[in-house]
Amino acid sequence: FQIAQQGTDLMGETVLITAGGTREPIDAVRFIGNRSSGKMGFALAAAARARGAEVILISASTTLPVPAGCTHIRVTTGAQMEQTALAELPRASMVIMAAAVSDYQVLSPSAQKIKKTETLTLELTRTPDILRQIVQQRRAGTVVVGFAAETEHVVEEGRRKLREKGADLIVANDVSRAGSGFDADHNAGTLIFEAGQQVIPLSTKREMAERILNSATSIARQLRG
Ligand code: CTP
Ligand code: CA
Repeated sequence: FQIAQQGTDLMGETVLITAGGTREPIDAVRFIGNRSSGKMGFALAAAARARGAEVILISASTTLPVPAGCTHIRVTTGAQMEQTALAELPRASMVIMAAAVSDYQVLSPSAQKIKKTETLTLELTRTPDILRQIVQQRRAGTVVVGFAAETEHVVEEGRRKLREKGADLIVANDVSRAGSGFDADHNAGTLIFEAGQQVIPLSTKREMAERILNSATSIARQLRG
């Protein structure tokens, strides 16, 4: 007889997690989206909660069940995710940005359904980089974890994003691998941090979540002295 293991190493932490893929409206019925399922972010939320953390989960375009005990805020667009994440940031001691945020939004979405024509040109503008703003606005001691979704030069790009965005940890994954990454139940990748890196072999998203939290916890200890 064994009681299910419920850790307590994250007790006292408030973990803000973004999950899923944002959707940018084109018109009344269409949007620009991506293949993110939200599974990695939801696995992180469940794992952090089980280890004793308060969890604020901000999700886009997913209908996954919300892990028990997590505060959940649903958003649609990158702009809404930005606004919500920055509003919740003062409460957070750890931030994990697992969401796939669209890099572009339609300059002037149509309120009516656009009728089909032979060709259609949409004018797109950039969305704000939420991770970068989180890094700039966080209070001292708040650990910031980002993801890097790549199809080539995975580790190099992950390290570049660590440096350019100023995150404490980047989880770099090769999203071109079959059976891992987008919408899969498994994932593989490399944890990239200032002092080094650690390969995570193909594992369940829950196992990967536990390893990300282990790494974030050890960075938190260093950061806070
Ligand atoms: N991200 C963000 N806001 C955006 C775009 C990305 O906060 N507008 C975050 C993602 O949540 C992720 C990290 O930045 O944690 C990296 O996302 P990714 O798409 O891999 O990197 P980009 O900087 O957008 O670069 P590119 O898509 O050109 O590879
Ligand atoms: Ca991007």
